[in-house]
Amino acid sequence: MRNELYISDIAAHDGEEVTLRGWLYGKRSSGKLHFLQVRDGTGVIQCVLSKKDVPEAVFAAGTAVHQESSVEVRGKVAKDARSALGFELHVTDLRVLQGEGGYPIQPKEHGVGFLQEQRHLWLRSSRQRAVLGVRHTIIKAIRDYFDTRGFTLVDAPILTPAACEGTSTLFEVPYFDLGKAFLTQSGQLYGEAAAMAVGKAYVFGPTFRAEKSKTRRHLTEFWMVEPEVAYMDLEGDMELAEDFLCEIVKAVLLKHEQELKAVLERDVEALKKVQKPFPRLTYTEAIEYIQRTGHPIQWGDDLGADEETILCKQFDRPVLVHRYPAEMKAFYFKKDPNDPKVALGVDVLAPEGYGEIIGGGQREDDYATLKAGIEHHKLPLEAFSWYLDLRKYGSVPHSGFGLGVERTVAWLCGLHHVRETIPFPRMMERLTP
Ligand code: 4AD
Ligand code: MG
Repeated sequence: MRNELYISDIAAHDGEEVTLRGWLYGKRSSGKLHFLQVRDGTGVIQCVLSKKDVPEAVFAAGTAVHQESSVEVRGKVAKDARSALGFELHVTDLRVLQGEGGYPIQPKEHGVGFLQEQRHLWLRSSRQRAVLGVRHTIIKAIRDYFDTRGFTLVDAPILTPAACEGTSTLFEVPYFDLGKAFLTQSGQLYGEAAAMAVGKAYVFGPTFRAEKSKTRRHLTEFWMVEPEVAYMDLEGDMELAEDFLCEIVKAVLLKHEQELKAVLERDVEALKKVQKPFPRLTYTEAIEYIQRTGHPIQWGDDLGADEETILCKQFDRPVLVHRYPAEMKAFYFKKDPNDPKVALGVDVLAPEGYGEIIGGGQREDDYATLKAGIEHHKLPLEAFSWYLDLRKYGSVPHSGFGLGVERTVAWLCGLHHVRETIPFPRMMERLTP
């Protein structure tokens, strides 16, 4: 490993002469002085290059260096109360390692289409770097949550033989002599098999939806974490979802509060309100709620983005909406024994207009009922024979949910569109870079 210093550790080296390696983020010059903003992935430091303190060639290198060139800079660490970092570097030597002029992204407003095309470079900006950091913390918090509560991580396949979340959003892949395979829409069905083996399982990986919708909430490739627990009912599922979300928000605030405020301009006070208990509404109550605002929605209608927004604006924390019309839901949901018109499903809607971030519920555990459900949805029975087996050999009540990582990142970072929440987004109209 390299033994140089990172900018994030600079405070421990006040007064020392150190070497930093990074990239030139920005530059201001005033005749005899160059102010170089150097970033190394852990932070940005101002490096002051003074004509009178360095050999001519070093000053000339500072004059010539381009934005985003790779640089090695040596200098003395000095306190600087005006900078966000609290320190600057008084340069004694500068080496430009590589870098052409004409870096495409200038410190001015660019259109989002252009930035998307330059995504491989756009990631270097301070906002994007902050988002990458928060995404990392969310993923770590997810793993920590389940790993410390007795869950086993189980990897589900990505190439699958059948639809899980409706046949209209399947990506087909040619698959040798077996015909076609589909990219997974959800690892849930495999998570259920795993839960019968280990009790508490979670699947965590990329999932795919051939979504023909160009909304700010839809990607064609996104990451989903899916816990699945044997002997857990819908009530337990809702408690798990609520507790889980509180812990994720807590972990993000603990590590990134300053960055959220300063770099992403996120209202962190709104995030601090994410405390248990969350409001719970049945779908039927949610419809009545929305109708009272004058909206013409009827029982049986889907809650679209607009309706979700109306609903979550009433609350300062996530809302659990449960017991949706069974007809709207996937084949695997268990129906409410007290009211078979509704399924034992739950969606969690994030506040501030972010909408659905979690979907899940209790699974049908009766063989005959599940088989009828598969037939009712006109799904190929053959492809689900293994899934039906789980209802033949020691079936138990069980539940789980799926949390979309990108929608969670968008909510916590306060981003309008999910395209900035994943390093290289895949959408209907974008496959590059
Ligand atoms: O509600 P969904 O479709 O639920 C399932 O897939 C279940 N099988 C999960 C389970 O119970 N194990 O998707 C779950 C979550 C959504 O709430 C949303 O956060 C995210 O996945 N999601 C998407 N995120 C980005 N782009 C898309 N196209 C998404 N579709 C779903
Ligand atoms: Mg859903």
